[in-house]
Amino acid sequence: MERTYIMTKPDAYKRGLIGEIITRIENKGYNITDMKMMNLDEAILKEHYAHLADKPFFPEIVEYMTSGPVVGMIVQGDNVVAGMRSIMGPTDGLEAPAGTIRGDYAKDKSENLVHGSDSVENAEIEIKRFFG
Ligand SMILES: Nc1ncnc2c1ncn2[C@@H]1O[C@H](COP(=O)(O)OP(=O)(O)OP(=O)(O)O)[C@@H](O)[C@H]1O
Ligand SMILES: [Mg+2]
Repeated sequence: MERTYIMTKPDAYKRGLIGEIITRIENKGYNITDMKMMNLDEAILKEHYAHLADKPFFPEIVEYMTSGPVVGMIVQGDNVVAGMRSIMGPTDGLEAPAGTIRGDYAKDKSENLVHGSDSVENAEIEIKRFFG
């Protein structure tokens, strides 16, 4: 069965939206098979967001992602990598359609509530990174 790595971001914690995000995952029909709350540090963020580490906004990402706890989850289901990206919506909350998590709750492309793996291969790498 396909798996993906989902992570609520610190704005979801601060705004009390962790439950809403979990509800949407469960309502879609996916199974959460493991979950844990964590505080991330810069080292793991440099690894997780390696594709963005040389961008001028990378320090903002680190500040944002270390500003509170995240909840990492392993989510399982048929085509769950694409399915989760679909219910999350695109990166920028302004462009994300209503009905998606980001479209309903995020206003821009920085604080966008939730992370989801972008491929089956990266999902397995990210599950190993955060769950060992
Ligand atoms: N131009 C930007 N300005 C500020 N923050 C950004 C920008 N682009 C991306 N980010 C932040 O970095 C995260 C990772 O960017 P990426 O391009 O991987 O988008 P994504 O795959 O939709 O998001 P994620 O990997 O968190 O699921 C974004 O979710 C966002 O929080
Ligand atoms: Mg990404």
